[in-house]
Amino acid sequence: MGNDTPLGLSSRRDFVRTAIASAGLLAAGGVRVLGAPRPPPAGARNPLNIPPLASSTSPLRAASAVVPLGGGKTSSALAYNGFFPGPTIRASRGGSADIMLTNGLSEGTTIHWHGMIVPEVADGHPKYLVAPGAGYRYQFPIVQRACLNWYHPHPHMMTGEQVNLGLAGAFIVNDAEEAALGLPSGAYEVPLIIRDANFDKSGNLIYNPKTTGFVGQIFLVNGTLDPYLNVDTALYRFRVLNGSNARIYRLALDSGAPFILIGNDGGFLETPVQLDQIELGPAERLDLLVDFRNLPVGTKVMLKCLNAGWNLLEFDVTRQASVAGQIPATLPPISKLSNPVTTRFFSFEGMSKINGLRYDINRIDFQVPFGQTERWRFTTNGNAPHPVHVHGASFQVQSRSGGRGTVFPWERGWKDSVLLQDFETVEVLIRFDGYRGLYLIHCHKLEHEDMGMMSNFEVV
Ligand code: C2O
Ligand code: CU
Repeated sequence: MGNDTPLGLSSRRDFVRTAIASAGLLAAGGVRVLGAPRPPPAGARNPLNIPPLASSTSPLRAASAVVPLGGGKTSSALAYNGFFPGPTIRASRGGSADIMLTNGLSEGTTIHWHGMIVPEVADGHPKYLVAPGAGYRYQFPIVQRACLNWYHPHPHMMTGEQVNLGLAGAFIVNDAEEAALGLPSGAYEVPLIIRDANFDKSGNLIYNPKTTGFVGQIFLVNGTLDPYLNVDTALYRFRVLNGSNARIYRLALDSGAPFILIGNDGGFLETPVQLDQIELGPAERLDLLVDFRNLPVGTKVMLKCLNAGWNLLEFDVTRQASVAGQIPATLPPISKLSNPVTTRFFSFEGMSKINGLRYDINRIDFQVPFGQTERWRFTTNGNAPHPVHVHGASFQVQSRSGGRGTVFPWERGWKDSVLLQDFETVEVLIRFDGYRGLYLIHCHKLEHEDMGMMSNFEVV
């Protein structure tokens, strides 16, 4: 799929132009371009793309490619193995990952395994930049409980661009506790990577960020424009990732039916919870059950974003299911962190600083003792939302004061990313008991991250 030869490019504009030319899409004079968007006939939607599966030992090659968006449209993109989004990696707790990255881009890159607890050398820190043409072997044991994680580049000041142009994929960890729940699986378990995007006049993805964060005018689910999904009269499990650089979604079903939320960033919640709406910031994940069991064939249900007024994904109930599935009554227990020995303060300032400091790749801002439970307090002096993300450990959100003033049901359990709005103070408990070494805390509004709202720390 697509073109994945290295192109030796020098700028984003060159990248787009070269990708078009190399795909043979640019006619003489550079005017007429195949694949340029044409307005779809009213009501026409495209089948939802399901990324191919990969194992945790399959290699990944990052390179430019031409990718389908649905409805016959294509775009130049940066893609893993030519796929947009990248392959969905599935691995089991107790197994291991051994993933060879080849960099076919014209600039350096790394892969960060967002949500995975991995050694420093496998964490994709910008210090471990992989040069164009070079490779890097990411090796780590899969130690955490079942959850949806994701992988994306993390190069110094170029993360926003590389992610926005297409480099991201899901990484699902399975375990025995999860298997015992008998959740919907196979065709009844569907990843949904939701993001926004902008396209140039030729219909190719462009990265045109603002300092306040990239705002895309168009939404994509699994890389598909205006998607639909044919569903059976069954219970479905959706593994949802907000893969946007900066956008916040408020998800709801137009049928008024609730979601049954069973998990988030760090795996299962303690109990399923029914919710009419869920707010999802950049990098946050959801494990959602949606119940189509009692709907007549022919019913259509729309997954909406109430913030943007977008009709993200249409579910078309087309077939009677033979096995309808069951909502689990209980979920695996969570051990609660408690008794923090110290409190650390993180002020997310302006658009580029934490505690008055702009990111310096060579400066280590603080040290955290291994295995010690700490309280981390996140505040901001403005320019929020700041989706705060920590590498190297998951945390448990304790409180939010000011602003929205509550911890939402989708913020219970284990998290690695939490939304901080203006006037809010969010407190979490965290303990690094995976590895010693160099990790990051940063704003996952990728434009803020790239401008310096990031900090190195060392687990010692
Ligand atoms: Cu998903 Cu440090 O990032
Ligand atoms: Cu921010």
